Amino acid sequence: MNSRYDVIILGAGAAGLMCAIEAGRRGRRVLVLDHANRVGKKILMSGGGRCNFTNLHTTPENFLSANPHFCKSALSRYTPWDFVALVEQHGIAYHEKKLGQLFCDHRSSDIVQMLLVESEQAGVEIRVNCQVHAVRRADEFLLDTSLGPLVAARLVIATGGLSIPTMGASGFGYDLARQFGLAVLPTRAGLVPFTLKGERLSWSRELSGVSADVAATCNENVFRENLLWTHRGLSGPAILQISSYWRPGQAVDLDLLPELDLVSLVEEARRERPRIRLRTLLAEYLPRRLVDLWSGQRWRDRKVADLSSRDIDQLRAAIQPWQLTPDGTEGYRTAEVTLGGVDTEELSSRTMESKKVPGLYFIGEVVDVTGHLGGFNFQWAWASGVAAGQQV
Ligand code: FDA
Repeated sequence: MNSRYDVIILGAGAAGLMCAIEAGRRGRRVLVLDHANRVGKKILMSGGGRCNFTNLHTTPENFLSANPHFCKSALSRYTPWDFVALVEQHGIAYHEKKLGQLFCDHRSSDIVQMLLVESEQAGVEIRVNCQVHAVRRADEFLLDTSLGPLVAARLVIATGGLSIPTMGASGFGYDLARQFGLAVLPTRAGLVPFTLKGERLSWSRELSGVSADVAATCNENVFRENLLWTHRGLSGPAILQISSYWRPGQAVDLDLLPELDLVSLVEEARRERPRIRLRTLLAEYLPRRLVDLWSGQRWRDRKVADLSSRDIDQLRAAIQPWQLTPDGTEGYRTAEVTLGGVDTEELSSRTMESKKVPGLYFIGEVVDVTGHLGGFNFQWAWASGVAAGQQV
């Protein structure tokens, strides 16, 4: 193995492979290193095994970052349609599930295979099961690895975030940024289920597996999607989305009847079908198991005609909106992403190169740019990978 390269990329995930392909196509001699035993493990497990590889409605507003403008340049130069063109070129069948989310028809491994074929055609060398012990910079970058010493003119860090450590996630990228004097913003788990304790956990366990369409609100951000009760607390797309905006101790508003007003519903029923039971009425809009559990003894057999105005006020206060303070999140163990990371102030938004350390690049999730649920995180990985690949 010749130990000198134009570009070494650490991390054979979505961003690293995309960057390698782009640089290889430009004639660069590229080596990609990964400590895991295979490439693209998160791609393989993504989208329930079908990889939600992009979102057609990607805009900068779909991303969280201390600098919301940073992602604009890369995203505008490599769009979801560019990635779709690549997918189509490889004959991979896909479909739009909802809200612009594109998934493979068959399996996520189609995307990994596509990236491997492209890498090979671009002459990229990939090594897995490789440990990087130390990185130094003299005129070039000197890497001490389990493959021996390696040298590169340019070094790209694409080691991702901290979520799902069992899949190879590590804090390596953050540590390396600090080693070179770059600021790293505090990290926390994002797109992650909430955990509950005590009586609220007992409720969740009773309802485990039940889902409902809700509007989840926290810090003025609103997501209208499904909520899922679990044996640990709450999950489902609405909860994952709002979790990225939630801070410990804060309350989350969960409107179980979005776009409907409970009081008007009950009042209309009192006029038009006064003999209907409250639980029968509510079950027309909410999951039956939730209504049964919630209505308990107090409301069980009450007809809407028998409800007083006070009852209706109490009803509304109890469920619209249902305000809840989560006890915590499931953390990096199950989080889809890591919020925070390498401070975008340190990087060029056009090339992802460090402003302080020429030749050093950070791409993908290790950077403080985190997408909403729905294919946005991969689109950031592709776009930031291409941005660096065009420059290295
Ligand atoms: P990524 O994590 O993909 O790759 C980093 C690579 O670096 C890994 O191969 C790792 O082994 C390697 N590495 C780490 N430390 C190293 C070290 N010290 N030395 C060498 N190599 C090292 N997003 C989306 O848009 N659509 C979706 O459907 C999903 N679904 C999904 C499901 C689940 C369960 C998770 C956990 C995440 C998702 N995501 C997602 C998020 C998406 O997977 C994530 O944002 C991207 O994979 C990030 O791409 P990166 O290339 O930056 O990191």
